[in-house]
Amino acid sequence: MSKSLQLDSQGRLRHFLSIEGLNRPLLTEILDTAERFTQVGNQSAKKVPLLRGKTIANLFFEPSTRTRTTFDLAEKRLSADVLNININNSATTKGETLLDTLQNLTAMQIDMFVVRHSASGAAHFIAQHVPGGVSVINAGDGRHAHPTQAMLDMFTIRKYKEDFTRLRVAIVGDVMHSRVARSQIHALNMLGCPEVRVIAPKTLCPSHVENLGVHFTHNMEEGLEGVDVVIMLRLQNERMRGANLPSKDEFFRFYGLTESRLQCAATDAIIMHPGPMNRGVEIESSVADSQHSVILQQVTNGIAVRMAVLSMAMQHNSGER
Ligand code: CP
Repeated sequence: MSKSLQLDSQGRLRHFLSIEGLNRPLLTEILDTAERFTQVGNQSAKKVPLLRGKTIANLFFEPSTRTRTTFDLAEKRLSADVLNININNSATTKGETLLDTLQNLTAMQIDMFVVRHSASGAAHFIAQHVPGGVSVINAGDGRHAHPTQAMLDMFTIRKYKEDFTRLRVAIVGDVMHSRVARSQIHALNMLGCPEVRVIAPKTLCPSHVENLGVHFTHNMEEGLEGVDVVIMLRLQNERMRGANLPSKDEFFRFYGLTESRLQCAATDAIIMHPGPMNRGVEIESSVADSQHSVILQQVTNGIAVRMAVLSMAMQHNSGER
C-alpha cells in the first residue's frame, strides 16, 4: 500500500485504507483522539459540531451490522450529513460500474466515502479515482484489510491492558480469509506488541504467515498458554472456495474456545471477537458471555474510534475544493 496515497504531504491522514503504510505515532494519535471522543457518547446530547456542513456517503456492497451502524452513528455524532446508499436499490443493479457510480456521487460534492466491498483493493481503487479534496475510508475489502476494526480492537486492548510492549496476543481460527486478522497483526506489530501468535489449522492459515511477524501453531492449548488477549475469528464461509475444513463440529472440537481451554491463558486474559460470532463453532456460548469477554465493549469503542478516523481524515480537506 503506497504511503503517499494514505497520507498528505504533511503526513496527515487523507485516506484510511490499511494499517500498512502508516506509523506508530499516527496509530497512537487515532487511539488518543478516540479516547477524547468517548466522552461524547456519555453526554445527554451525543453530538459535536466538528463535521457540520460535510457530507459522507456510506457505500456498503457487502452485508454489515457493526461497521455500518457504528460509522453511521459516528458520522451523526460529528454532525455530518450522512447518505446511506442502498446498493441493492441503486443503479449498480442495472449494470452501472463502480467507477461510474462513484463519479456520479462525487458530482454531488460528497466529502468522504466509507466503503465496504467483497473485492480486495476496492477502497484503494476508489481512493485513486476521487478528486483531491475527497477522502476514502476502508470499511473492509475482501480478505485484504479492515483497518478501523483493527484500531477499535487496539483501543479495546489498550483500555484493558495499557501497555502493548508487554503483551502476548493469540489470534485464533480462520486467519486465511480474515481481513481483520491481517490488519490486527500489522497494528499489533506497529504498536510494539512483542508476541503475536496465530492458532489455526494449516488449511486456514496463510502459507509463510511467520513473515508477518507472528508465531504459528496448530495446537490450541500450546498457543493459548499464558496469553493476555485471545482474539477469536469466525469461519468466513463466504470467502472459502472448496472444503478447507472437515466440519463445524470438528473445528469446534479442535479450535473452539471452551471454558476448559481458557484455563491455559493468563488468569486475567480478555476475550475478543470482531463479530459476527458463531456460538458453538469458534466459541462456547458461556465463554462469549463470561467476565473475560469484552466483545460488546469492542462494539461501543468502534463509535469513538470511527469518529477519530473520520475527523482526522476530514482535517486534510478542511479547505475549499
Ligand atoms: N466486525 C465486522 O466487520 O462486523 P460487521 O460485518 O457486522 O460490520
